Amino acid sequence: MGLLEGKVAIVTGAGRGIGREEALLLAREGAKVVVNDVGGALTGTAPDEHPADDVVALIVDGGGEAVVNGDDIGTWEGGRNVVTQAIDTFGQLDILVNNAGILRDKMSFSMTESDWDDVIRVHLKGHFAPAHHAAAYWRNRAKAGEAVSGRIINTSSEAGLYGSAGQANYSAAKGGIVSLTWTLARELGRYGVTVNAIAPRARTRMTEGIFGDAVPPSDGRFDAWEPKNVANVVCFLAAPASADISGQIFVVFGGNIYAMSTFQPLGQVTRDAPWTPQELIEAKGELFRGIDSGVPPFSFF
Ligand SMILES: NC(=O)c1ccc[n+]([C@@H]2O[C@H](COP(=O)([O-])OP(=O)(O)OC[C@H]3O[C@@H](n4cnc5c(N)ncnc54)[C@H](O)[C@@H]3O)[C@@H](O)[C@H]2O)c1
Repeated sequence: MGLLEGKVAIVTGAGRGIGREEALLLAREGAKVVVNDVGGALTGTAPDEHPADDVVALIVDGGGEAVVNGDDIGTWEGGRNVVTQAIDTFGQLDILVNNAGILRDKMSFSMTESDWDDVIRVHLKGHFAPAHHAAAYWRNRAKAGEAVSGRIINTSSEAGLYGSAGQANYSAAKGGIVSLTWTLARELGRYGVTVNAIAPRARTRMTEGIFGDAVPPSDGRFDAWEPKNVANVVCFLAAPASADISGQIFVVFGGNIYAMSTFQPLGQVTRDAPWTPQELIEAKGELFRGIDSGVPPFSFF
């Protein structure tokens, strides 16, 4: 018996890369899966391919249940459609994996308005739109007295945790997904829904230009860049045994899984009176006392 027997899951952007492996693993563990993918290029243009069809075929060939959803997840209607399709097709929704994404990397001074808008829309709205509709569904069930065990697993990035030169749009969206995760976790816990996020590293078309040297080992050794490694963590968070984990961010790379802290003060100056700018200049060393060098971390950039 699989970990997710009897569950219904949505995975967005599941036609390729990490989402594909997530959909396949959730199905292998017994979940019925709505495989969402709009198709198209890495930059989000020309959505005329249908990679979700292949993923559904693989799941069905393996004895599982899955359906294709081709909606653009960065729209309110797309978010509603994918949630409605899960409930209409399989009778319920238990797990929402927000994964779909695009890239338009450029330095801030070269970035166009559409580079900014499209990346923010696909990632940030593409997380919130399905989450909104799923949350409304779970809240209604809980209010009707039903037992709810909902899961939202978001996909951030280390670019969103630390910033990344050349990715102002992407980093901002991924940072927004971290705060969205914390906020949804605070809102939905009372209805039986956990909300967590991963910041993965894996070999996909999105990263082949960045981690070009991450070729698979030819000698059968463990492949740290294999997207399947990431899917395992998502499945763990989706499982009933993870009902006590919410509002957490996990960096995931190969066999290394880091549960990240929230923002913590590095140092502080406190008193019951305002600080003048000149006094703050003089107190700078004290303010950054938590850093060995005494230099604010942003000086590293
Ligand atoms: N690969 C990594 O190392 C890495 C690192 C950090 C974060 N991520 C994140 O992981 C997620 C998956 O990335 P990946 O590396 O597998 O990339 P990928 O390009 O292989 O897969 C992304 C999928 O999302 C789909 N998609 C794009 N826009 C969509 C939309 N509007 N609606 C529905 N589907 C859409 C694409 O068609 C594609 O199949 C992304 O959110 C990405 O930002 C990946």
